[in-house]
Amino acid sequence: RPIIARTVPVLRKTLSPFRRKGERIALVPTMGALHQGHLTLVKEARKRADRVVVSIFVNPTQFAPNEDFGSYPRTFDTDVKALAEAKADVVWAPTPQAMYPEGFATRIAPEGAALTGLEDKFRPHFFGGVATVVAKLFTQVQPDVALFGQKDYQQLQVVTQMAKDLDLAVKVVGIPTVREKDGLALSSRNAYLSAAERAVAPVLARVLKAAAQRIKQGEPSEMVLEEGRAEIARAGFAVDYLEARHAVTLAPIASLKDGPIRLLVAAKIGKTRLIDNLGV
Ligand code: PAJ
Repeated sequence: RPIIARTVPVLRKTLSPFRRKGERIALVPTMGALHQGHLTLVKEARKRADRVVVSIFVNPTQFAPNEDFGSYPRTFDTDVKALAEAKADVVWAPTPQAMYPEGFATRIAPEGAALTGLEDKFRPHFFGGVATVVAKLFTQVQPDVALFGQKDYQQLQVVTQMAKDLDLAVKVVGIPTVREKDGLALSSRNAYLSAAERAVAPVLARVLKAAAQRIKQGEPSEMVLEEGRAEIARAGFAVDYLEARHAVTLAPIASLKDGPIRLLVAAKIGKTRLIDNLGV
């Protein structure tokens, strides 16, 4: 079973023998409610390091007051069992006070990919909260490598840029999205979907796949995306965005001539907001 650390001193004491032996340490940051997507990151981490640390922390600073921080699924005991099976060495599960002690007064303010009008437009507080907590996790664990899912594609680009900009000695690796058989990207928030909503949810992945094919074949992206938005809306979603962006900078891009394209979508059904993305 993994060692569970809840304070920074205990974490340091747990990791120091590994580091002394020169072992490579991987970090997989999560907010718990672990599913096969998270566990795939752990499996990939095992291949890249001698020791695997999985953090579980539902980070309050990346939720707005009107969002689902209070109701976000918390399944710690099941998560630890799954991590024991996945052969994680350490679960870093800081208490809120360990992460944000009384008087905490510093925030990271990411720009670049964090200010491209995608998730940031609908969740303006989000990437500041993510960058701040991930910078703290990197400093606390000092991993050689950290694994993130492409599922949260803008987050992956923001974290990669932050590690570079702050000269953090960590290699940020992105892992392809794990999907259900019908294409729906695994997400802790899928648990919020009713049976009827779950039945239509694969429309996001289906539209991304069809749009990627058509854009690759040379159809004008704005027309393809407009049809995609309409199809997602017909299925009962309120579309926040469906966009074609440069795969690294996430700047608007019209054609494959201007660089690699990533299609990104966010849409809400009932009380559940889902995101997905796909490379062209
Ligand atoms: P969370 O949503 O728990 O996701 C943790 C990691 O699992 C992220 O890197 C995410 O991209 C990855 N992940 C989620 N679903 C996936 C899927 N279907 N396939 C592959 N990877 C998947 O993202 C966060 O937590 C937080 O913002 C965090 C980075 C921990 C900072 O608080």
